[in-house]
Amino acid sequence: MTDEHHADRRSFLKTGAIAGTALVAGATAMAQQAAADTDASNRPTKGDIDILRFLAAAEILETDLWQQYNELGGIQDSEVPGGSGNKPYTDALKNLDGDMDQYIHDNTEDELSHQTFINAYLISKGAPPVNLEPFRTLTGSKATGAADPKTTKRLTNLMELKVDTTWWTRYRSRTNNPDLPPVVPPFPQAVPDLITKGPFPAIPRDDSDITKDKTGKHIQAIANTAAFHFASIEQGGSSLYPTLALRVTNPVVLRILLSIGPTETSHFQTWHDKAGNAVKDPLAPLTDPINGLTFPNLDVSPGGEDFQTNLIMPEPCPFLNRKFPVCSIIRPVSTNRSIFGAVQAVKGLTASGLFNGQSGAFFKFVGELAEEADEATRKCDED
Ligand SMILES: [Fe+2]
Ligand SMILES: [Fe+2]
Repeated sequence: MTDEHHADRRSFLKTGAIAGTALVAGATAMAQQAAADTDASNRPTKGDIDILRFLAAAEILETDLWQQYNELGGIQDSEVPGGSGNKPYTDALKNLDGDMDQYIHDNTEDELSHQTFINAYLISKGAPPVNLEPFRTLTGSKATGAADPKTTKRLTNLMELKVDTTWWTRYRSRTNNPDLPPVVPPFPQAVPDLITKGPFPAIPRDDSDITKDKTGKHIQAIANTAAFHFASIEQGGSSLYPTLALRVTNPVVLRILLSIGPTETSHFQTWHDKAGNAVKDPLAPLTDPINGLTFPNLDVSPGGEDFQTNLIMPEPCPFLNRKFPVCSIIRPVSTNRSIFGAVQAVKGLTASGLFNGQSGAFFKFVGELAEEADEATRKCDED
């Protein structure tokens, strides 16, 4: 840590010196940029490029899943085209918040902008952009409102999910942080059925998911599953950006990660709030009459601060070392790759069923991007 700290200081001092010299010389901003670009030390390292390439892939995958949600439950417009909306699904989502369609639209547009930006930046540095189009082979929802499943293929599968809901308790525990193992006891699931009884769909698979249950509870359970999946995905992004930022060398690449990462966290907190409405009065408790999936009223069962439904901000937890006072932070952000990083993120998404149906070539391609990103380390001046 000490070496990294000193290297950071030198790097910042150096950057400041370059800027100061340019100002004194009266150089234009463009000339300053050109000078920076010809300075080899200002170029992204191989590790920086590997991190950006993995993040480009992650953002493409995020865009694909959010696009499917938007077609059925968001707002379809020129910013986020595709689909025509599914009213019963949209209405069920709006039982969680009247603005759900707007939030789904905006989250989708954000991911689209992230993948487009990162790939454009890679190209600007002479690095290859990431293209997952050869893997766009999955058939999506056949429900009214989805883009034509015959002509529009998907990268991700939202119809067979086992959603990990430990993010709920991980952000409330005052005694445990995944970065400081052992985590005893383990973080409990907020909605255990989503893991133990799954897989479940997070979007209507076809119109029978709406018509076969006249009570409306089945489509509500599908919307509730989506709400917990939204938070699960965005919590992953909230951890991924700071974790990878710790391995970045180039200040501009660091700026990219530090600027995109917090938007993932703003998504996460929004979805944390909305998921809370699925597990409180009056919607909860709710049991899907088709498959038995139950969303408990967490204020009642099990109750307590770790489950209280209007707690949407992180509770302080141990950070860096248990000798320090608890601190409210993103978790995990470990530099220990066995705890979290690109490879662990892909493993988690794969276990959730998000890639069910994907080819071996897909897993090989994304797996290699993740491994290369995890091999990246911050380069010090003496390296
Ligand atoms: Fe994103
Ligand atoms: Fe995101």
